[in-house]
Amino acid sequence: MNRLQGKKILVGVSGGIAIYKTLTLLSLLNKQGAQTRVVMTEGACQFVTPLTFQTMSKNKVYKDLFSEEDHFIPHIDLTRWADVFLIAPATANILAKMARGISDDLLSSTALAAHCPVLVSPAMNVVMYRNPATQENIQILRDRGIGIIEPDSGLLACDEKGEGRMPEAEDLARVLEDFFAPKDLVGTKILVTGGPTREMIDPVRFISNRSSGKQGIAIAREAARRGGEVTFVHGPLQAPVPKGVEDVPVTSTEDLYLALKDRFDGAQALIMAAAPADMTPVHYLDQKMKKEGKSGSFSLEFKETTDVLKTLGGQKKDQVLVGFAAETQSVEDYAKKKLKEKNLDFIVANDVSAQGAGFAGDTNIVTIFTKKDREDLPLQSKEEVAREILDRVVGLLQEREAGK
Ligand SMILES: Cc1cc2nc3c(=O)[nH]c(=O)nc-3n(C[C@H](O)[C@H](O)[C@H](O)COP(=O)(O)O)c2cc1C
Repeated sequence: MNRLQGKKILVGVSGGIAIYKTLTLLSLLNKQGAQTRVVMTEGACQFVTPLTFQTMSKNKVYKDLFSEEDHFIPHIDLTRWADVFLIAPATANILAKMARGISDDLLSSTALAAHCPVLVSPAMNVVMYRNPATQENIQILRDRGIGIIEPDSGLLACDEKGEGRMPEAEDLARVLEDFFAPKDLVGTKILVTGGPTREMIDPVRFISNRSSGKQGIAIAREAARRGGEVTFVHGPLQAPVPKGVEDVPVTSTEDLYLALKDRFDGAQALIMAAAPADMTPVHYLDQKMKKEGKSGSFSLEFKETTDVLKTLGGQKKDQVLVGFAAETQSVEDYAKKKLKEKNLDFIVANDVSAQGAGFAGDTNIVTIFTKKDREDLPLQSKEEVAREILDRVVGLLQEREAGK
């Protein structure tokens, strides 16, 4: 199930130009089943009408400290209702008021009276942002336990370049998903791999496979969300590396093996979602191969690469080891064989030729095999598959801890 489903999210909006992104955010939150209520400042109402926010949040918008009829004491009631209070955009002004405890309108009073955790997304011109007054206010709020969402850097609405840009709505939604994730991997070192590897033929050519790395990325992100110390070892990816993970890019299967070999002993779990090439050219050509001198056809000789999972499976002590089997036929047979041969705790198998499953897309259909049973999961997003996998990894880690 979606992590934001049924969550009560109070969204505070102050008068910054990034306000338009908050409308998209509300739409995303509502699509994910969250309940949203919006508090606007007078400044915010100069940019976008309350009617627009009301329509996007599907709820009445609150802006008057003294005349909200359906709430006895609006600034208290609203945060009692909320699971989390996000202020986005947070102007330099609201940050200053929060830092000093000023409560002269509904938003600042609600922030001061907050019963629930508060997150702020500072958004402003770079000079305003770098101003020591703003920096000091942000630090005061951070020290008080308020979550600060770092602004992005880039071209700002004022045509200046620098920090101060509010993250995109999708990124803010991710911050909320992070917030609601269980913190059951705190103190756990997790190795995650993702993406294909490349085996170089000559300086410009290589053999590889269609893996996009999206499933590995989703697992690394989810493990970090849950508080794990995540190292993400990956080949060339078709999506960005998630924030908050140690990033270890590699090229070949041998690079992947070497990166994991040194780290495996110190990890509590390895989730091997990468698709390493299992063959590599016998000879690497120092210069680009030319077709001249070849009589229309030619062959390349390949040798097997190190079987990374099998090698590490042989060295396993009490780590949880998870493999993937991406197949186009006889999925169950191959998966069970791999589970045994590679000494895995469980294997996540999928038929990559099935619609909605496999490499490039955002969804997957997987079956999880353990030594004892099989579980067929429905078509899900790769994020949901990542959650299913980590739920099981956490369960196994807890069992091991209890058995010590
Ligand atoms: C066109 C325009 C854009 C503005 N954008 C920002 C902004 O992005 N961030 C900010 O801190 N202030 C911005 N301001 C200034 C705030 O609107 C102003 O400080 C206001 O008093 C904030 O009030 P509030 O925090 O109660 O909403 C902008 C002002 C104007 C006129």
